[in-house]
Formats: sequence, C-alpha cells, structure tokens
Amino acid sequence: MAITYNENKGLFHLQAHNTSYLIQITPSGHLIHLYWGKKIRSPDLRHLLDVKERPFSPKIINAEELYSLDVLPQEYPSYGHSDFRAPAFQVQLENGSTIICAKYVTYRIFSGKPKLEGLPATHVEDSGEAETLEVELRDNISGLSIFLVYSVFSELDVVTRSVRFLNRGTDNLKLIRTLSMCIDFINFSHDVLHLSGTWAKESMIERNSLKRGMFSIESRRGISSHQHNPFLALLTENASEDNGEVFGFSLVYSGNFLAFVEIDQFNSARIGMGINPFDFSWLLKPGEKFQTPEVVMVYSDMGLGGMSRSYHCLYRKHLCRGYYRDKPRPILVNSWETAYFNVNEETVQRIVQIGKHLGLDLFVLDDGWFGQRDDDTSSLGDWNVNTEKFPEGLSGVAEKINKIGMQFGLWIEPEMVSPNSNLYRSHPDWCIHVPDRDRSLGRNQLVLDLSREDVCDEIIKSISKILKSAPISYVKWDMNRYLTEIGSALLPPERQRETAHRYILGLYRILEEITSSFPNILFEGCAGGGGRFDPGMLYFMPQIWTSDNTDAIERLKIQYGTSIVYPPSTMAAHVTAVPNHQVYRITPMEIRGNVAMSGILGYELALWELTSEEKSTIKKQIGFYRSIQHLILNGDFFRLLSPFEGNETAWMFISSDKREAVVFYFQVLARANTHAKILYLRGLDPLKNYIEIDSGLAFGGDGLMYAGIKVPELKGDFQSVVLQLRAIK
Ligand code: DGJ
Repeated sequence: MAITYNENKGLFHLQAHNTSYLIQITPSGHLIHLYWGKKIRSPDLRHLLDVKERPFSPKIINAEELYSLDVLPQEYPSYGHSDFRAPAFQVQLENGSTIICAKYVTYRIFSGKPKLEGLPATHVEDSGEAETLEVELRDNISGLSIFLVYSVFSELDVVTRSVRFLNRGTDNLKLIRTLSMCIDFINFSHDVLHLSGTWAKESMIERNSLKRGMFSIESRRGISSHQHNPFLALLTENASEDNGEVFGFSLVYSGNFLAFVEIDQFNSARIGMGINPFDFSWLLKPGEKFQTPEVVMVYSDMGLGGMSRSYHCLYRKHLCRGYYRDKPRPILVNSWETAYFNVNEETVQRIVQIGKHLGLDLFVLDDGWFGQRDDDTSSLGDWNVNTEKFPEGLSGVAEKINKIGMQFGLWIEPEMVSPNSNLYRSHPDWCIHVPDRDRSLGRNQLVLDLSREDVCDEIIKSISKILKSAPISYVKWDMNRYLTEIGSALLPPERQRETAHRYILGLYRILEEITSSFPNILFEGCAGGGGRFDPGMLYFMPQIWTSDNTDAIERLKIQYGTSIVYPPSTMAAHVTAVPNHQVYRITPMEIRGNVAMSGILGYELALWELTSEEKSTIKKQIGFYRSIQHLILNGDFFRLLSPFEGNETAWMFISSDKREAVVFYFQVLARANTHAKILYLRGLDPLKNYIEIDSGLAFGGDGLMYAGIKVPELKGDFQSVVLQLRAIK
C-alpha cells in the first residue's frame, strides 16, 4: 500500500517509489510533519519531537505531552497561536480578525490522482500509478474547511501537494495567503539552489548556504518570469550532481509565486511555496471553494542529477499531454531572426525553397504577418492577415508550403493588445488597468484582461478562426511583457486583488479550449524566450522557446540550467546566424548545431546567405538529429560537466534499456599544451560493452563510467564533439 493510516497512533505513512513521508496528528488535532526522505520501515518517529517547555514559546492547549507550535514541525501552519514563523495561509473574518485554528477532522485515501479545478496538474493514465490522501482540517468558528491533498507516485520519488479551501460558514471570508504547501525540516543544514536570470539569460544556477532568517524567490510580474523560475531545491551540504540528498519543489503555476526558506532560532527550516500573497486576496463567500496550484516535491538520494531525472520523467509522461508528447517534433525554420518584421510572400518562398532542399519539415511565420504590423508599435489584437504582404491569405501561403512537402506554422500573441489597433479603439477597457491611472506600455503594448470571461471568449473565438483558416500544423504562443497597474474593469473593489490570479485562470481556460479543439497542432510556448518556462505551461504545450538568446555559448548555461527541472524534450533551441544577434559572437556551425540538437532542434537564419559548405553541414545535422531524436525525447539525461564551473560542458542522453547513448562535449576556449581530456560517463550498464560508432572502438560500460573516455583533441575556440555509443549484443 502506498498510503497507510495507523489509527492508534494517528500516523499517516505516504510511500512513493523509494520515499517515505510522515504526518502525525496530535491529540490537539494539529498536523505535525514528521519526516520526508528515504523510505523507512518503522514510521513512528514521535521520539524526535522537541517537547521541552521553553520560555517565550506559548503552550498548545490540549496537546498532552507536546509543548509549543513554536518548535514543532508542521504540515500547514497558521499564524496567531504559538507559531511565529511564516504561515502557510491566512484568512480574514468579517470581524476583521485573522486568527484561524484549523484542526484535523477526517481523511480519505484513494487510488489515482484527482484533477485540480481550473488548474494544470500532474496526472496519471492508470489509477494504479498514484495514490492520494486528502485530509480535512476545520476551523469551527469561521466554518472554514481546508483540504490538504497529497499524491504519491508508485514508480517515482514524487509527492505532490495542493490545498482546497471551502467556506462552510455563513459569513464571507477573505483569503489573504494560500500557499500550496509548507514543510518544516528540523536539524537543518542544507544549501538552497534555484534558477535566476533575466531576459536572454534565463535559468542561471545559484547555490547558497543558508543562515538564520528568510530566503525567498518570487514573481510580482504577473507571469512566472525570467527572473526566478518557480522552483527551488535544498541540498545537503555535501550533495553534488551525482551524490547526496536533494529535496526539490516545483510549482505548477504560471503567475505570481512565492517560494521561501525560513531558518529559525532552533535551526529548523520552514519551506513554503504557492501563489504570491503579495497584492493578492480572494473573497470566499459561503459555499465557495478556492483551489491552490500544485507543488511537485521530489526526493533524491542520488544528487541533483537524480532529482532532475525524476522531474524529467514525471513532466514528460505525467504533465505534458497530447499528440506530440512522445512523437518526433518537426524540424522547423522560423522567420524571426531570418527576416524579423520584413515577412511577405516572397521572403517566405525564398526560405521554404531552400528549407525543403535542406530537409526541414516546417516553416514558422513569426511576427509581422497581420494588421499593419511592420514593427512592434501596432496591430496586436487585429488578427487579420495583411493581404499586401500575403495576397493569397494564410491559406494561400500554407497551401503552397504544403505543396512542396513542408508544414506551415504560425506565431501569435493572443494575450496582448496594441493601443494602435482596431481592437483597442473599440474596447479600451479590455486591457488590465486601473481607472484614472496611466497605462504603462511594455514593448508598446498592453495586456488583455484575461480575468474577464467576455475577453477570454473573444480570444478563443478570434484565435480559433485563424487556426481554422489555413492548414496550420504548429503555433508559437508568445507573450512579451509583464503585467502593470493590475486591476480589472469588471471586478468589484473587494475583488480587485484577485485580478492577477484570475488572469492565469483565464489563460488556462483559453489554452485548454484551444489546445483541445486543435489536438493535431503542435503548440510551443514563449514569453520573450523563457519568461514563462514553467510546469503550468507545459501542461498545455510540450515545448517552450527556451530563450531569445540563441548564441551557442550562452545557451550552454541556459539549457544546462533549464535542465535542472525541465526535460530537454521541452526546450526549443535553434541554430541562428553569426555574428550572433544577441551577443555578436562568431561560432562554428557545428557547435551551434550540437547545442540546438541537445533540445528540440530548429533553424532561424537567412538560409539564402549560407555557403554550400554550411548547407551540407546543416543537412548532416538534420539527418543525425533524426537518428538520435528518440534519445533526446525519451532518454535519461545526465549532466557531466557544468558550464557554470569551467571551460568545458558535457551532457549525455541514454535509452532506458541502456543500449544506446549519445554524448555531447563542448569546449569554449582553446588552451595550449593541456592534458587530453577524460570524460566520465554516467548511467551506462557496467556489465555491457559499448562500441563508439565513429572510431569503432569498444569499451566496457564500467570502464567508461569509472575510468572515463578520452575526448578527441579539439582545435580552436567554440569546438564540440559528439560520441555515439551502442551496446554490443
Ligand atoms: C519574442 C520571441 O521570443 C521571439 O522569438 C519572437 O517571436 C518575437 N517575440 C516576435 O515579436
């Protein structure tokens, strides 16, 4: 059994693959967090609790031998009784008070994993793949019920958590803090690792040791953001890529979030994660429910690499959905860095004629195809093809492309409106705004108010019309600014602080309707690159444009950092021109190809400027990628050398049966007179022998991992090499 309840002891034991998670109900009805880590046989760990009386730590009423909530590790704590740490939730009653005492009422255990109303979440196809515990806590005075929902996966070391609030009382309640999870670690001595960045520099790995006080990452930008991914991990101090204990927390949400670690006076750490309480509140009328997003918690005793592979496997199979989830993705050419806004019938024809000859599958018409969109100052919201640029309309373009044997894809940015657009002129109140206040522009545009049902309905209608108007096989769904002056014309004053979360709920409804109405279209997410690279978006689209920075060397860090949580099968990566358009660096075509094919390969450069040598390199890249794409999509990913630590980067993909592997090695700068580089591979079967395809040399799996393999000498800066291994029968 994955989840058991010992009634005599009031003890829940949740067991994921190799993980135990223990919750104790106290005689006073509080939920104590006893343990999360490697699976254990004897789950009664009450002896670990600190029950000493302490000055300045108020006593719990009716707690028998337990003393104060100030020192006890808890599951979903509130503020106001005797716990002074950051709470998991806070609720205001009509009398203005914010004291809630939610105590255990009942529980249920069932197989499978329920959907979350209105929100993306991990899921199972077979109810045997997960088991769920739902615990109800209730505050008798307000009538507030809080349902803590935990699911454990039988094949993975994953515990998911979410919370549902229900107002069973007769008065209005105001939720002012509703985190999705909270957990207390006693005896804390961990590092924190998270992914921070900015536009064109997403997912930079930061690892710090923590001292007493509050550490937090958050977004107040309306989307998950380029600045902080909604993820953090705690690592034991000696934990590395391959060894040590790691605890990961990843939020399935695309809006404002908060994740914190608070280390208290006794060296306990409280970790909380969920919707950012900043500028948030939610009015809960009698009978109403509120659902928080889900947090996915991964335990690994095989270092950061072990944690990442659990996330990769879970997100590939139990988060991403749809036709393309496991299918080879088309290798595309995109018009953005190729022609920017200068797109028209003639440019498209030029691109696709050469693209076809190179072996590409799909052409993407990026920004500039609609309204009067010759630059970024107009037309968002006016989703009509510009017939001066495309006299035969989108269907004309698409059909011609189809005729030569390629597919057609389209860029859209449905959440936005340009002040210079017919849509804005007819509906100036349809954007997020606050009455009488200036509306700040970002990239000359405003954000449509997705908290409004009518606006969402109109987006669904207008986007569906375009998608039906031509044979469209792929859509790039972009979003190019953060939210400011957050308010909605339709919400009453007491609900204005619901706008940011309602925006995300509106977005999810639109995405659900559109992706399910067009199940054969491959959707790719984008928010100026990785501004919304989060699990919430991956539920609707299996790949995301990783960064607007396409320089191969910068991408080493961006893709390596992104892989901490997200599988390479979700990372769109393109070969672009040199000098690179973001950093002006000149790199060889080989390394640009090898970096891009470590994710979802595409091209985005003026194909007509290529030399015949470059064209033949691209043809080879495409052929090679097709032969290894199954490993990129479904293989296990091992990081071997970190670009954050040195001049060389390496990673490898290996099939689940361990018979096939591909290793990528990248050298940034050349150095004179260095020793031959030895690379230690990972994840192979020590008992199998492997042949390296290029050299024809055979090696033992154990030797390749423990003694290593010599990397062929690389001459010059920005060089790379790929090694392909196949098990010998
Ligand atoms: C931002 C995206 O990240 C780019 O790839 C491109 O699609 C532009 N928007 C178009 O405006």
